[in-house]
Amino acid sequence: MQVLIFPNATSLAQKSADLVESQIMTFPDTVLGLATGSTPLGLYQELIKRHHQEGLSFAGVKTFNLDEYVGIPSNHPQSYRSFMDENLFDRIDIEKSNTQVPDGMAENPLEVGPDYEQSIEAEGGIDLQVLGVGTDGHIGFNEPTSSLKSITRVKTLTKQTIEDNSRFFEPGEFQPKLAITMGIQTILNARRILLLAHGEKKSQAIRAMVEGPLSAFCPASALQFHPRTTVLVDEAAASKLTLGNYYKFVGEMQDELVRKHRPSDWISR
Ligand code: GLP
Repeated sequence: MQVLIFPNATSLAQKSADLVESQIMTFPDTVLGLATGSTPLGLYQELIKRHHQEGLSFAGVKTFNLDEYVGIPSNHPQSYRSFMDENLFDRIDIEKSNTQVPDGMAENPLEVGPDYEQSIEAEGGIDLQVLGVGTDGHIGFNEPTSSLKSITRVKTLTKQTIEDNSRFFEPGEFQPKLAITMGIQTILNARRILLLAHGEKKSQAIRAMVEGPLSAFCPASALQFHPRTTVLVDEAAASKLTLGNYYKFVGEMQDELVRKHRPSDWISR
């Protein structure tokens, strides 16, 4: 895992946008895996800005979202479809038909997973997956003890996740307890992974994810198996890492190597 530590969430968002932008510039038909939550908002704002100011185009890009709540319609303000439309898709030149979010209102939610896997496969797989992380170490909605080999399916949310996300729902409003999520294996199949986290609240999950042990109890630790994962964190989220200074040193050495020997190893296909 490559760990990049930034002084603040703004510089982190800019770097993550640089990485996504170079992927799209090299492969305009890139398949992106996308995440919801407050974490990727800075990245999405930066991409929208670059679309308007620099002409960064998403016309050929296809996207698959990680997850969706079961039981609320896609036009519900708290659905992940609404979140993506509002915070990204409606503000760039992407074809809406090229954006996929699991169907949380399917008549049989148990059938959504295999179809979603097939759609991803039909597009040639995900080139670049953007991830946040839950305070309990979940990725997508793969809660602790999710199988490390899981594929897209229905998951029951933990009390902690329900509580963490309750801030988005009105008091007394129905809040889903189930979600359809890409599995851990689905995520590991992506060619590149970009995991973002900021704030002290995420520091424990980041430590468990990066420094192990590999365990289904911290689903994000499965990324230790992924050969091309970059973790972008701010100082607060990095504060519990034992080897924080080492990761900074690695960054300096890598910059030097890249300067000397190759322009970039980032682009993926
Ligand atoms: C939700 C999403 C995750 C996200 C997590 C963290 O549970 N399913 O994909 O990473 O929340 O959210 P936030 O970025 O708001 O902290």
